[in-house]
Amino acid sequence: MNRHDIKIFDSADDLADYLTSFLLEKINETPVSGFFSLALSGGSTPKILFRHIAGSSKEKTNWGKVKIFWGDERCVPPDHEDSNYNMANNEFLRFLNIPEDNIFRIFGEAEPSGEAERYSRIIENNVIHKDGIPRFDLILLGLGEDGHTASIFPDNMSSFDSDLYCEAVTHPRSGQKRVTLSGKLINSARLIIFMVSGKNKAGIVSEIIQSEHNSNYPAALVNPWDGELLWLLDKEAASMLA
Ligand code: 6PG
Repeated sequence: MNRHDIKIFDSADDLADYLTSFLLEKINETPVSGFFSLALSGGSTPKILFRHIAGSSKEKTNWGKVKIFWGDERCVPPDHEDSNYNMANNEFLRFLNIPEDNIFRIFGEAEPSGEAERYSRIIENNVIHKDGIPRFDLILLGLGEDGHTASIFPDNMSSFDSDLYCEAVTHPRSGQKRVTLSGKLINSARLIIFMVSGKNKAGIVSEIIQSEHNSNYPAALVNPWDGELLWLLDKEAASMLA
């Protein structure tokens, strides 16, 4: 991976500050007639980013042009503490003037495989296509210590190569049901950003970034066909990079 695809920050706070400005700039570049399709990552890492967005000069950004999606969701109700939607809504969505119709949450309370089908259709109908496939303007991804991303886990690599846009899967350790974007939809994005922080991620970051052909991990398969891939790391997560 070329080094210029990687930016390293002194702290998670500096990373979030950079990504907030970067994101607002991308949204503001969107043509007035168009929409900016953004898929959010889940877990705990993006919480600091969402807080920065909530505290940013949001009035200068036309959030009405943004369509919000998720890269994955835990199959729990939207008010559950595990819900990726619940976290994003609490931390920033509720403070922005994004029309309700432009927030496309995954229905964690629904039956998983049926919801994977429904969400695939939602994406099909609301994200601009390229070469016949919905192409997100930006997909934010996190990275698990086991090399998973979104909810594509190493024990289920087939869901990366699925022909479907979304899959219903099971977390290998907790058994929690999830709905996730597939690798096909991830790699069709215009821009993919991995946001990774913390010392506990240093080992997997080093394995994925430094060993070119490491297909043991779903995150190592993320490589946009006709787009850009950017790794944003804090110093701790980057501490094992040569
Ligand atoms: C999820 C995420 C998942 C997450 C990684 C990292 O729903 O959990 O989408 O892919 O990004 O597990 O999680 P942390 O940010 O909590 O370390």
